[in-house]
Amino acid sequence: MGGKLGRVETRPYYSDKGLSARFYDLTTAADTSLAGDVELYAALVSPGGSALELGSGTGRVSFELAARGISVLGVDIAPAMLAQAEAKLRSAPPEIAARLRFQRGDMASLNLDEQFDAVISPYFALGHLPSGAAWRNVFAGVARHLKPGGRAAFHLASAEMLGQPLPDVRGPALIRPIEGGRRLVVSIADRSSKPQIGRYDQTIEYVVEGPRGVEARSLDHMTFYAADPRPFAEAVGLQADGTAPLGPNLVHLFRKPG
Ligand SMILES: C[S@@+](CC[C@H](N)C(=O)[O-])C[C@H]1O[C@@H](n2cnc3c(N)ncnc32)[C@H](O)[C@@H]1O
Repeated sequence: MGGKLGRVETRPYYSDKGLSARFYDLTTAADTSLAGDVELYAALVSPGGSALELGSGTGRVSFELAARGISVLGVDIAPAMLAQAEAKLRSAPPEIAARLRFQRGDMASLNLDEQFDAVISPYFALGHLPSGAAWRNVFAGVARHLKPGGRAAFHLASAEMLGQPLPDVRGPALIRPIEGGRRLVVSIADRSSKPQIGRYDQTIEYVVEGPRGVEARSLDHMTFYAADPRPFAEAVGLQADGTAPLGPNLVHLFRKPG
């Protein structure tokens, strides 16, 4: 990471100065493969119950769960994502805000003095970590932070989906109008996959175009890892509880014995 592409420095995804964090909610709203994901996570917890979200981002899922009566602690490593979640919290209805907390943390080294009815990791959050020692640490944390009988859910990109060639890597993947008569143009600048080790890299270009031309441009790089999470979960005593399809991918479900 951190290389050069054109005259713009490539930054890690979700970093403070990149545009991937700033426009996360806008670009994610366009991702139809997430349709129904909130209902899937909400079904794991009864209203009045609690959930820990690993990689909670801007709070896309956390706020929806809180609106359904679930108390949520969202943990995320990226300050630029947490800042947006905190800003939304300040303007949320008080009864929803009362059920929400966000804090900075690494999902691979969590030591909260709390247990939850569910631990969830929506929209590929676990896939940002390499699927070796880091996943072992994540699952050890999940087992520690789940109540007996608690449920866990991990949405992971399938190796097949990540390995597919793009229909047209040169054209914009998304164009959206934004404030002040501007528009956001998102394109895939570079993509590579190493299916034999389950590693996928892509660099996304974000361009803000105003009436007089390009106003901001950012090249944000992300790495995804794909693997079967079951051995990691079973090694810490969690039971596999099937999978639920979500778009072309799967949400992997687990249960802590009660
Ligand atoms: C694709 S976003 C998903 C956000 C949210 N769960 C959603 O569904 O909209 C992935 C998030 O995982 C976070 N993340 C990546 N590595 C992390 C880590 N080691 N610990 C905690 N969060 C992490 C990123 O900062 C980012 O906000």
